Parts: sequence; C-alpha cells; structure tokens
Amino acid sequence: MITTKHITPKGPSGYPIIGNLFKVASNQRLVWLQSLTEQYGDVSKFQLLKKEVYLVNHPDLVRDLLVKKVDNYTKRTVAFSVVRKVLGESTFTAMGDVWKRKRQLVQPSFHKTKISNLTEIMTDTIEEMLNDWEVVCDKKETIDVADAMMRLTLSVVVRALFSTALTKEEVQTVANVFTPILEEASTRASYPLKFLSKFRTKQNAIYKKNIKQLDDIIFRIIKDRRTSTSTHNDLLQMLMDAREEGTDDPLTDQELRDEVMTVFIAGHETTANAMSWLWVILSQQSEFREKVEKEVEEALGKRTPTAADFPKLPHSLKVFKETLRLYPPVPILPRNVEQDDALGDYLIKGGGEVLFSPYLLHRLTDFWENPETFDPERFEREAERKRHPFAYLPFGGGPRICLGNNFAMMEAVFILAMTTQRFRLNLISDKPVEPLITLTTRPKGGVHVRLERR
Ligand code: HEM
Repeated sequence: MITTKHITPKGPSGYPIIGNLFKVASNQRLVWLQSLTEQYGDVSKFQLLKKEVYLVNHPDLVRDLLVKKVDNYTKRTVAFSVVRKVLGESTFTAMGDVWKRKRQLVQPSFHKTKISNLTEIMTDTIEEMLNDWEVVCDKKETIDVADAMMRLTLSVVVRALFSTALTKEEVQTVANVFTPILEEASTRASYPLKFLSKFRTKQNAIYKKNIKQLDDIIFRIIKDRRTSTSTHNDLLQMLMDAREEGTDDPLTDQELRDEVMTVFIAGHETTANAMSWLWVILSQQSEFREKVEKEVEEALGKRTPTAADFPKLPHSLKVFKETLRLYPPVPILPRNVEQDDALGDYLIKGGGEVLFSPYLLHRLTDFWENPETFDPERFEREAERKRHPFAYLPFGGGPRICLGNNFAMMEAVFILAMTTQRFRLNLISDKPVEPLITLTTRPKGGVHVRLERR
C-alpha cells in the first residue's frame, strides 16, 4: 500500500524533450546506470523522452517485481514491442492469460528429461565444428571464435528444432538472414524513436524481407510435418504434440511459428556470446583452463559425452555460470509499470518503465566479494545456497524465468568439454577485449584465437 512515507526516487533529469536518451543509447550505458546507483541508491529515476524510467538495483526489490508483483510489472515495454514485431505473441513476449497458456503448453518440451533427448544433436553438431577446426589448425590459420560460436549455436537450435528437415539452401538462408535481423532489432530497441524508424525505408524493407524468408521456411516445415507419417525426435515435434490442459487444444500454425522464431532468437546468440567470453577468460587465466582439462580427462577421456555425463562435469558448469555472472548475455531487462506502486520505500508511478540489470546485480559488493574477479567457486553448492537468489539473474527470475536455461547449460558444458578434449584456444592479442553492449553483451571486434592441438 502506498503511504506518505514512501519517497519519490531521485536522479538526473537530462535534456529537455529527449531526457537521457543519449546516455541510455550509448555503449557506456551500464557505466552510467552504475553511477546512478552509486549516487541515488537502490532505486533511481530518470527521464527518457516522455517516460519516467526507474532503475531498481537491489535483489529484494527485483524479487518483488518479478515474483510478488509480476502482474504490475509487465512486458508492455518499448523494447519488447520491437521484439514482438519479430516473434509475434510467443512465450517470450506474450502477457497475462495468453502467456500462461503458452508457457504451460511449451514448458514440458524444455524439461531436463526432454533436453536429454537432444544431446546427440548437440554433440554431433559440435563434433562437425571441431572436425573443421582440425583443418584450420593444420593450416595454422586463426579463427574468430565469437563468429564460430554464433554459427555453432545457430546450427544447434536449427537441428534441435527440425532435426534434418532443412535443406542445405535453407540452412544457408537462415544463417545469412539472422545477423541482420538481430542487428536491426537491436538498433530499434536501443533507439526508441518510432518516428525515426519510419524514415529508414530501405532498412525496413530489408528487415521485413529477411523475416519473411525465415517465415517461409518455418511454415514449409510445419506444413510438411502436418502431413508426414514418420516420427521426429525434435523440439518442433514436441511443440506440435503439446496439448492444453482441459481443452486438449494444440498450438496453431501461427503459434508454432512464433515459438520456433523465439527459440531461434532467444536460443542462440545468448549462449554464443557467453561462450565467446568463456574462451577469452580461459585463454587469459590458464589455472581455470587446466582445471577444466583435468576434469574432462577424468570424466570423459576421449569419449563423446552423453546426457549422463553432464553431472560429471561440475567444474565446467561452474566456469560457465561464473562467465554468465561477469558477462550476462542479457545485461538489462525492462518492465512496464501498470499502476502506481510502492517498491520497498520508493514510490513508482504507473505508466513509467522499470529497468533491472543482471550485469549490475552481479557486481553488488553486498552480495559478491571482489565482484570483478573471476572465481567459479562462487558456484559451489553451499555458496549458491547461501546467496540471495535474486543477486544472480542471468536467466531472469520468477515465473518468467528463461525456458531454455537447462538447454543452454547442457549445450555450453558440452561445447566446453568437447573442445577441451581436442584443443586449447589462445588469444592472438594481449589487448583487453571490450564488451559491446546492445540488447546483449558481446565481445567487441570478435575474439581472434589460434588453435593449439592437445
Ligand atoms: C545463456 C543462454 C541464455 C540466456 C542468458 C537467456 C536469458 C534469458 C532471460 C534473461 C530471460 C528473461 C527475460 C525477461 O524476464 O524479460 C529469458 C527468457 C526466455 N528464454 Fe532464455 N536465455 C538463454 C538461452 C535460451 C535458450 C537456449 C532458449 C530456448 C531454446 C531460451 C528461451 C527463452 C524463452 C522462451 C524465454 C521466455 C520465458 C517466459 O517469458 O516465459 N533461452 N532468457
């Protein structure tokens, strides 16, 4: 309940009309947001165009908005409206009862046991990449591992969704149109000026054409599946077989398309970016790399991992989790404030937007000792248990927590383990790798490495 005791959060007003647009759209936005917390406390407020935006940077308050008050802090935001144009009303973008129905239908396909069925698809795809790397290694060429991880994780989601249903040309089309779609969506979400986007007619036409090309492929496969009599062990089939509790209704073709597009988009760049950082860290801090090598040697030797091996690679998982702490692929998340509310001691006005940032939460000194230091032991079971659950949010939290977190963790650990069995990745340059922060956190300029055979 709101009382007179609640205070209005403070913060910079910015320029007339645009408010703090340049700060929010700049590559330094996290540094700027961090400075707001230091100056104004757990909740600060600033103007962005006509909107009042609140930065909430305390795990208790983030828990309130993600769990207790989830109906008041919704995805009716500018950034999600950009994503909605590509994904339609999917589990990622939908709200209220529409979201509940979708989540209930889609969630079982992402259960750990179901994901285990997809491990062979993951390991086959990783194996193919590593075989190509043998040739690169022989030729003593270098690779951009950020680019390689992007192609690998896209191949994994394509095959996890459709097994082998895509023709070679279609796989190439998907690979070609994806980067431009993601880049354009990111630009649109970072510059929330609708009137400006109307003038970008050429970009808009290309954007639409690229999305249409993906749609054509997805609808073609759905149509084929509707008439096919053979069985398929993939995510699309699981989604097609899903039935709503009570009514027994399946997902429609349009709903299937939206979920497939969501898995495409939510399910590959995030994992790829985290893996790119992981290779940077392991190349720079060899003690962690050696520990991974030892674990992989003991758990697997030269054998290809199966789902049953995942629990035997706890250090590799800790290394991945710690990478997600320092470089959360989704660094900032927004919510719309539906009604006036009291969050902790603060008054939050309806119609505004709230931001919370896994990147900043993961660096709060009250919850993390020496936050800038890479230390996988933070994810020792006991340490994890003792920590505030909302101080670590690479996958978000509450009922809208990431659906693909088990998928991502298994995929990441297998990429790490299988690559370690064969190679060491050594950075070519000693220069620090800077983060490029758009909708996601990725290494600026790529990650150029030389492969060393083990
Ligand atoms: C390291 C990899 C990943 C990271 C860091 C990540 C991060 C996130 C985050 C932060 C959210 C919450 C968004 C919000 O609350 O506004 C989310 C939601 C979601 N993610 Fe992921 N994700 C990853 C991988 C995946 C994968 C592999 C898939 C699918 C195969 C996936 C599918 C989804 C879906 C469907 C949602 C929406 C859930 C809902 O709102 O009910 N993600 N993800």
